[in-house]
Amino acid sequence: MWGDRYAVLASGSGSNLQALLAASVPDPVVVIADVECSAQDRARESQIPTELVGFEGDRAVFTHRILEVASAYQVEALVLAGFMRILGPAAPNAFPDRIVNIHPSLLPSFPGRNAVAQALEAGVKITGVTVHFVDEYVDHGPIIAQQAVPVLPDDDVESLHARIQTEEHQLYPRVVEALVHGRLLVKDRQVTWT
Ligand code: GRF
Repeated sequence: MWGDRYAVLASGSGSNLQALLAASVPDPVVVIADVECSAQDRARESQIPTELVGFEGDRAVFTHRILEVASAYQVEALVLAGFMRILGPAAPNAFPDRIVNIHPSLLPSFPGRNAVAQALEAGVKITGVTVHFVDEYVDHGPIIAQQAVPVLPDDDVESLHARIQTEEHQLYPRVVEALVHGRLLVKDRQVTWT
């Protein structure tokens, strides 16, 4: 078994970080943000160290700085929770099958930004949440877990995203627990929970 030292990367409200802090999984050893955000406040309230790594226009440099912080905290996995920056290939190279992301759609449908709005616009009746490993492409790596969420007739982006987030907060702690205990195996894009 490998260690359970992981970092959370966040840019926003940090409700998924909060779900991790509330669950019976190990806490992250550091929260890394690219902008000042509520996720940092949630971390501080729980005495989790925070680091700010701003994006200055070069993805490779930005990724290198994130990896330096990760190394300083001796983390073995990165958990992206509302992190709005794309990491360069150096990140999955440094942490193969040890970076996870949570995305508010049933991938491979609706990758990228505004996934909830994309689903509403497409008129799908079911959308949901996907947790996947991060590879060198956006919202593309092997899928670890998914949960469907029905789209209701009077949904708008806010109401649908709120119901998706309720599922996210259940799903992500389960995945992170399996990740940090080395229970997720990947072979040919298929993820097995052991
Ligand atoms: C979540 O909906 C997640 O799927 C997406 O960004 C949102 C982050 O929310 N990647 P929060 O910051 O964890 O509240």
